[in-house]
Amino acid sequence: MAGTGVFAEILDGDVFKYYAEGEWKKSSSGKSVPIINPTSRKTQYKVQACTQEEVNKVMDTAKSAQKSWAKTPLWKRAELLHKAAAILKEHKAPIAECLIKEIAKPAKDAVTEVVRSGDLISYCAEEGVRILGEGKFLVSDSFPGNERSKYCLTSKIPLGVILAIPPFNYPVNLAVSKIAPALIAGNSLVLKPPTQGAVAALHMVYCFHLAGFPKGLISCVTGKGSEIGDFLTMHPGVNCISFTGGDTGIAISKKASMIPLQMELGGKDACIVLEDADLDLVAANIVKGGFSYSGQRCTAVKVVLVMESVADTLVGKVNAKVAKLTVGPPEDDCDITPVVSESSANFIEGLVMDAKQKEATFCQEYRREGNLIWPLLLDNVRPDMRIAWEEPFGPVLPVIRINSVEEGIHHCNASNFGLQGCVFTRDINKAMLISDAMETGTVQINSAPARGPDHFPFQGLRDSGIGSQGITNSIGMMTKIKSTVINLPTPSYTMG
Ligand code: G3H
Repeated sequence: MAGTGVFAEILDGDVFKYYAEGEWKKSSSGKSVPIINPTSRKTQYKVQACTQEEVNKVMDTAKSAQKSWAKTPLWKRAELLHKAAAILKEHKAPIAECLIKEIAKPAKDAVTEVVRSGDLISYCAEEGVRILGEGKFLVSDSFPGNERSKYCLTSKIPLGVILAIPPFNYPVNLAVSKIAPALIAGNSLVLKPPTQGAVAALHMVYCFHLAGFPKGLISCVTGKGSEIGDFLTMHPGVNCISFTGGDTGIAISKKASMIPLQMELGGKDACIVLEDADLDLVAANIVKGGFSYSGQRCTAVKVVLVMESVADTLVGKVNAKVAKLTVGPPEDDCDITPVVSESSANFIEGLVMDAKQKEATFCQEYRREGNLIWPLLLDNVRPDMRIAWEEPFGPVLPVIRINSVEEGIHHCNASNFGLQGCVFTRDINKAMLISDAMETGTVQINSAPARGPDHFPFQGLRDSGIGSQGITNSIGMMTKIKSTVINLPTPSYTMG
């Protein structure tokens, strides 16, 4: 059970504590924020509603803890990260349980998220040791007009305090994908978890606490976005924001000061299917890519653009697989589980009703109970339907029939999102040309979009984000270059 056993310290009565200055604390606000279980739609957990004063204190300690952390040898930083990774994996079961209760993640996927996160931390420690252990050496006489009289040494130094804001759908994995690169690079880290997923995140932070990181280096503040959201993102003590989520990221980027931003803000990933594609492979990828975790992934397949000549066959194959998806509670490891909130379910329903009114073909009957929405494939979707462009973040997938490759590419590029896309064809030359033409951060050839493996670069264009993620890129963006120039006296020694 959450907050028991080794984690007992993080629970006070029925409210989970926040983490600051290396201690687990109750907020002076005396208030809490409820976390609603998407399946039961009842309060599952409560977390502290932190105040702005508490955020100020966290920022002060993060700043001073960072100074000494940056001087801690790189190998020691890596050692602590490896320790945290091992502790996290050891406690995968109770953390997975939180994911099941808070965000209705299917049981097996919940465990996978924790294990994947441990692996990400370890990889990050190893990668950091290598890339941060190297610098550059430049000499002046390669630039016109200069003698060989200046040597420039460059290395990567930390930015300072990193603010990490992960989304509800990966509250552990997308938190550690920010925490681990920040820490290995010598930064301190303030985590604001999503409300839905906050308790899993607090358990994960407790694993870092057990690993023995210095006090104040990692903090985790919980609370209402309306009280501490803008206050955190506009705080002068923050030196970089790494955010994953929805439109809020666009608002943050408009308000943030002159600091590096790493933003991943969703997608409308297109799946272009050519006549020569292996349609069994395509159907399997559409179902996995479109419906896993009930479509609540930024990288989910969100629109299928299929050539008219193979559309009937493909839709038939997809429908056969959709019929086999299990629908029900996450505890039973069902394929389709309740979406995260009632407002999310209502939004999805709005898209479905719009498509119905505009006469899309419903391949299954639309069915909803509470937050649970049965998987639905909508065929013959046209560009005048909202579902053609908007991101449902639910188990509803539109199919648009196209008559040319250009039509598919045009639809993909006309989207305000540009995260990933995929193309299915047996012709690698065509696939490469289509990949070049698709304006997205990544194009997958013959597979559904996905962020992982976690060391691959991950980035979006347009409203899908700013900057690039993946382990190496995250370490890079959470550091800056420091140069030291050695000016040699002239004349130099003569050789010979
Ligand atoms: O929801 C956004 C995530 O970055 C997607 O990650 O492709 O591993 O599901 P994933």
